Amino acid sequence: MVRAAAAKLGELPDKRPVPKTVEATPLVLVRDGERVYCAYGICPHGRWLLSLGDYKEGKLRCKGHGSVYDLATGAGELNGYPLQIKAYKAEVVGDSVYVEV
Ligand code: FES
Repeated sequence: MVRAAAAKLGELPDKRPVPKTVEATPLVLVRDGERVYCAYGICPHGRWLLSLGDYKEGKLRCKGHGSVYDLATGAGELNGYPLQIKAYKAEVVGDSVYVEV
């Protein structure tokens, strides 16, 4: 596991998913107030970028076909079927966001 700088806080508009690649891993970052979520950035259902999705209250809805992921755990579902993405630890230090990938 590697801890690496992923973004500056100023790059993350509140409640808007942003794509980042860290250590060759595609990620989606979402800032919600003081908290930053980080998860794997590609939907396992049909490979859409999750950064294209819609964020609301800790959950991200994939633009592809509507699966919904809890960004704290990575647990998701589509029409009642479970899906999973990896959720990564994100930490804000000063104006930088560090993630463990
Ligand atoms: S690609 Fe994400 S729900 Fe189908």
